[in-house]
Amino acid sequence: MPSPTPTTPSYRHELSRRPGGRWRVDAVKQVSYEVLVRRDLLAVEDPYLARALRDCVTGSGTPSDRRLLIVDRTVETLYGQAIDAYFAAHGFAAAKLVLDAHEQVKDWNSVEAVLAAMDDFGVDRRREPVIAIGGGVLCDVVGFAASIYRRGTPYVRIPTTLIGLIDAGVGVKTGVNHRSGKNRIGTYAQPLLSLLDTSFLGTLPARHLSNGLAEILKVALVKSDALFTSLERAARCGTRSLFDDPFHADLAEYITYESIHLMLEELQPNLWEAVLERCVDYGHTFSPTVEMHSVAELLHGEAVAVDMALTTGLSVGRGLMSEEEGVRVLRAMRGLGLNPWNDALGNHDLLCRALEDTVRHRDGLQRLPLTRGIGGHVFVNDVTPAEIAAGVAFVAAHAPAADELQEAAV
Ligand SMILES: NC(=O)c1ccc[n+]([C@@H]2O[C@H](COP(=O)([O-])OP(=O)(O)OC[C@H]3O[C@@H](n4cnc5c(N)ncnc54)[C@H](O)[C@@H]3O)[C@@H](O)[C@H]2O)c1
Repeated sequence: MPSPTPTTPSYRHELSRRPGGRWRVDAVKQVSYEVLVRRDLLAVEDPYLARALRDCVTGSGTPSDRRLLIVDRTVETLYGQAIDAYFAAHGFAAAKLVLDAHEQVKDWNSVEAVLAAMDDFGVDRRREPVIAIGGGVLCDVVGFAASIYRRGTPYVRIPTTLIGLIDAGVGVKTGVNHRSGKNRIGTYAQPLLSLLDTSFLGTLPARHLSNGLAEILKVALVKSDALFTSLERAARCGTRSLFDDPFHADLAEYITYESIHLMLEELQPNLWEAVLERCVDYGHTFSPTVEMHSVAELLHGEAVAVDMALTTGLSVGRGLMSEEEGVRVLRAMRGLGLNPWNDALGNHDLLCRALEDTVRHRDGLQRLPLTRGIGGHVFVNDVTPAEIAAGVAFVAAHAPAADELQEAAV
């Protein structure tokens, strides 16, 4: 049989006889970005930040020194002058949008504000990465806006909270809340670069340090007994002093770096979440619904802690963890400034609805990570409402009160 000639492609023959046709497109997208740690990034005499911001640009046109900065309003109050001085001193023509950034305004309106600023600035498609400076909310909002502006504009993250440094600032997820859905709309879009500077933690309120420690505790519980033991030591230091007191500097550094390392170890091979069994989803089964239900009351990490307390109860109930280990986890939480109990745990319907929503998120199965001992995990698909009630009863019975722990520490 003669093969089709170049001028007469075979599909034309087919189409003329019967509508139809078939093409298959296969492509692989290479993703590569760096996470760099450097203290005092905004020290004017240090060219590190300026160099990093210039070196990460991928465009092939003439280099541009124009940059649009999107800055969290609290960060602007604390560091605005230092930011302006740094960018001016290093020859950037910087414009700035200062944005309110916290969970209650993590929504489409904030994304629109960033899109409008990008448009007004006339951001170049490749050569002028937008720079996000702020907490996890700010980083998620800016990443989302950048990822949809011109179907993808480069951006850089400079996280300024503990959650930002160890979690929101290092992966590829962006997004905002939509209706009652936590991070319901968003994209997977890597930054060109993440620049981590722990000196920003100096101004972070203790409650927000605890909030970040919750995500570190999550990683420890499913991946590292050694990290958990260090967190127990940190719990005895007091949250503020862990990060402020030079005496604890080695411990604070180990906890922060190890957490980033373990997190990236999980994220890199499954960046687009093709595999939905993710141990870093530990503490994120019930918490998205609980957090949105109590959004004025609970911070992200606090909701994750409540979820981890409940799932610790589930592990104990299944014999995956001894009762003694379960109590140890709840005490560590308290010591890190996190309350294992929240009244949402008394709302059985809410917890069952939360699990149903997570099943939709995880393609029809619970794929619920549970701790196996401390530092290991398994995935289960058969948690029942009765088991959830028993898990709640475990937390109610064993969650130490804050004053009880203070007494123990004296
Ligand atoms: N994309 C991801 O992979 C990912 C991972 C984990 C969490 N998150 C998201 O991160 C968000 C939580 O992040 P967060 O805890 O940083 O909250 P946040 O961004 O709301 O910041 C907390 C508060 O701290 C203030 N702040 C920021 N930096 C400061 C500083 N250096 N000193 C003093 N105050 C400062 C902010 O203005 C805000 O009021 C949640 O929305 C969560 O969904 C995303």
